[in-house]
Amino acid sequence: MFIICLFTVDLNLVNPEQECVYFCGNSLGLCPKKAHDYVNVEMDKWAKQGVQGHTKGDLPWAFCDEKLDSDMAKLVGGQPGEVAIMNGLTVNLHLLLISFYRPTPTRHKILCESKAFPSDYYAFASQMRLHGYDPESSMIFVEPRKGEYTLRTEDILDKIEAEGESIAVVCFSGVQYYTGQFFDIPTITKAGHEKGCYVGWDLAHAAGNVELHLHDWEVDFACWCSYKYMNSSAGGLASIFIHEKHKNTDLPKLEGWWGHKYSTRFQMNNEHDPIPGAYHYRISNTPGLLCAPLKASLEIFNKTSMPEIKAKSKLLTAYLEMRIKNKYPRIPNHIADGTSTDWKHVPCRYSYKQIHLCFINQTEEDQLSFFNQHHPCV
Ligand SMILES: Cc1ncc(COP(=O)(O)O)c(C=O)c1O
Repeated sequence: MFIICLFTVDLNLVNPEQECVYFCGNSLGLCPKKAHDYVNVEMDKWAKQGVQGHTKGDLPWAFCDEKLDSDMAKLVGGQPGEVAIMNGLTVNLHLLLISFYRPTPTRHKILCESKAFPSDYYAFASQMRLHGYDPESSMIFVEPRKGEYTLRTEDILDKIEAEGESIAVVCFSGVQYYTGQFFDIPTITKAGHEKGCYVGWDLAHAAGNVELHLHDWEVDFACWCSYKYMNSSAGGLASIFIHEKHKNTDLPKLEGWWGHKYSTRFQMNNEHDPIPGAYHYRISNTPGLLCAPLKASLEIFNKTSMPEIKAKSKLLTAYLEMRIKNKYPRIPNHIADGTSTDWKHVPCRYSYKQIHLCFINQTEEDQLSFFNQHHPCV
């Protein structure tokens, strides 16, 4: 098996008999072996203890997200209080934009990549309309140069320099879903701040894939799903990051009872007593069943660290590249080569233009993406 040939793998976590290489972790991560057991524990608890399950067991449902969010925060470089596990990715992007997209007649634009994931684009456009602005004039893009597929950091910075004063929010993906480009998050964040913009990141393809230091990079906000590189099951729980500098600010928010302090939550007196920080953004109680597979996945991440995962991922990616180039000598260059020759910036994926093979995830008719699944959880 591919992974076992290259590395020492904990055989308790894999099926060593299975000859399979999975390249679709970008879409849906594999099922951690312990996920079944942990889901069954929650099912049994429900069956046997009913409402008491809210406070009983390893994952008491009333706090099940809180049992996991410090592990989640570690993966993105968040401090305590900066990360909350909740909802789905696009829902969270909307909730964050409610706080950070506060357009005025002179500062009403959102800067994003020209091939932003459609759901992000719809979120930006609908937020603009919500505030009475027209996406035609309020959405601005950075596009690849002619004949290129990825964005040059200098072009992003130039756009921020030229239009920054009219930009309310800069929002890019950490790793571009289509090209695999890993954006220079600290440099872009700093440039946005220098022009007075809020800077946020959709980390759907970055969280659990590349090293992130959201707190140190002073990112204002970020959101990500956990069903891709974090193997938490289809539609698994998403997360948000809010930098602690926003903890005590009065940014507008959509509120619900799960953002209310536990000590007073059940007084039911309609006096909102919010938990400062990321938890303030929680609205509804957390689905306990969805925390079970996420717990199984985070336990695997906890056996190692993002730097170690990256070291392994780079070897796997290099090995994959060698195998592809040996088999298909005339293959064009990986399309993120322009920006990703520095291995520090290589996510665990490779995207090629204009080749056709049938067995690998084909995201569009002329693009192939290879995602090496670096987590040994078959
Ligand atoms: C970059 C990116 N943003 C947003 C989404 C939408 O995610 P969700 O359906 O969880 O809101 C996806 C889904 O694949 C994505 O890849």
